[in-house]
Amino acid sequence: MAVQVTQALAARVTELRRAIHCRPELGFEEHETAALVERELDSLGIEHRRIARTGVLGIIRGAGSGPAVALRADMDALPILEKTGLPYASEIDGKMHACGHDAHTAMLLGAAAELQSQRDELAGSVVLIFQPAEEGPGGALPMIEAGALEDPAVEAIAMLHVDSRLDVGTIGIVPGPVNASADELYVTVRGVGGHGAYPHSAVDAIPAAAAIVLALQNVVAREIDPLASAVVTIGTISGGYRNNVIADEVKMSGTLRAHDPAVRDALDGRVRRIVAGVAAAYRVDADVEIVRGYPPVVNDESLAARFAGYVRAKGSPEVVRPQPTMGGEDFAYFAQRVPGLLIRLGVRSESAGSVHPAHSPLFRIDEDALPVGVTTLVLFARSFVAVE
Ligand code: NI
Repeated sequence: MAVQVTQALAARVTELRRAIHCRPELGFEEHETAALVERELDSLGIEHRRIARTGVLGIIRGAGSGPAVALRADMDALPILEKTGLPYASEIDGKMHACGHDAHTAMLLGAAAELQSQRDELAGSVVLIFQPAEEGPGGALPMIEAGALEDPAVEAIAMLHVDSRLDVGTIGIVPGPVNASADELYVTVRGVGGHGAYPHSAVDAIPAAAAIVLALQNVVAREIDPLASAVVTIGTISGGYRNNVIADEVKMSGTLRAHDPAVRDALDGRVRRIVAGVAAAYRVDADVEIVRGYPPVVNDESLAARFAGYVRAKGSPEVVRPQPTMGGEDFAYFAQRVPGLLIRLGVRSESAGSVHPAHSPLFRIDEDALPVGVTTLVLFARSFVAVE
């Protein structure tokens, strides 16, 4: 059976997306959003429960027995001041759905409506995971720990993420690593302060920090296989008091990213070695703290191939294979436990002004992508539980 989203359902999903968009909430504060999800699931007659504080777990039980498959949407927004000027722009200063999670949640509700109406054709269950706090501190792990993948035991999971690189009407499926690990790096350099006119009687933390920043570029340039993927970015640096004072301390922070868990582990040791070595050369002390963040998202290769083939056999949407990215995503934890698929949803459209990347204050999506996303989620669930 082909899946065609009706105009009425597309309109409802757009309406829900706008309602969520104008009321953005940060991680674990998604009270209004969770309540909206619950109201919609109630109106569809879908059972659900609260989980992991502001998360919602729904279950659609097909008429026949069979496997359980999960669909996941994230619900949280970002601390960004929206500058799109859209009529349904954020009503909350300094908070914005700039990563498309409003669309993800609305599309999962649309897919839920569609799948609930098709229960007679389904043998198995569809677990609907509405997850909080993807942008931090992370809601996937708390949902898993609270049993989101058990009872029924989920056999595979998919999510959509809007992607402003891909045209509306397309979806992107990447086998293997698709998003990167995202670890936090903190370096503190300590020297001995003094008068700027007498450098020989102090130990200057500033040139030591500068040398550390430059030496760290060597990790990716000279120590990692050029065919592997890694990033070492120093994002902040601060230190010193005024022009004629030698700084006794400099603090830096950054991000370490990789697709391969072995490369991720290698970055850790290499960054520590370089910081320690340069610090010794410059006579300063340096502390390194690396805080492990989300692991890389690795799409299950056979699931990716199987679903891409399934969609191509249906004729639409068009499946493309974009490059993986070095962005982070806590869907990684779901995909570590069961075969997972992060599917990219094309939202790029010059005419709709949908050209800005996620996390931009100007970020917007072409809403024509919404029914494409609903169709994709429905197809993923049906590829496991439909009696065709
Ligand atoms: Ni996102």
